[in-house]
Amino acid sequence: MYSEKVMDHFANPRNVGEIEDADGVGQVGNAKCGDIMKMYLKIEDGIIKDAKFKTFGCGAAVATSSMATELIIGKTIKEAEQITNKAVLEALDGLPPVKVHCSVLAEEAIAAALNDYKMKNGLDEDIRYQGCSGCCGSCGSREMHHEPEIDGDE
Ligand code: FES
Repeated sequence: MYSEKVMDHFANPRNVGEIEDADGVGQVGNAKCGDIMKMYLKIEDGIIKDAKFKTFGCGAAVATSSMATELIIGKTIKEAEQITNKAVLEALDGLPPVKVHCSVLAEEAIAAALNDYKMKNGLDEDIRYQGCSGCCGSCGSREMHHEPEIDGDE
């Protein structure tokens, strides 16, 4: 049911934790399952030097956050913006359709953290993320701001 890569990243997640002097921090959530993901980025000269995450959620969310951090470290901001949930899924050799929405959290967490960095530095916002998405449900403002790229969600 789960690929070896998913199981590996779930059992041994990479880059867990937080960056105290992070340049960008983003937190997102899924209103339906209540899971929350927080992403910390260290950015120097437009390059993501480090990324760490804390995920309070399911195993698939842990695995996708772990893989997402691996995918963005060393990338430029622009390259990181182009990493979609689909790319994270492919890197993990897929997820069961019912868990695809978990990978969307990873994409959103990256976008939120990049946006935080951009706002702090007077740069244009990431068009994928417009302010607090409210998708963690804590404010009740709205649910996830876009649908997963892969069919079969839920
Ligand atoms: Fe909530 Fe996976 S079930 S993110």
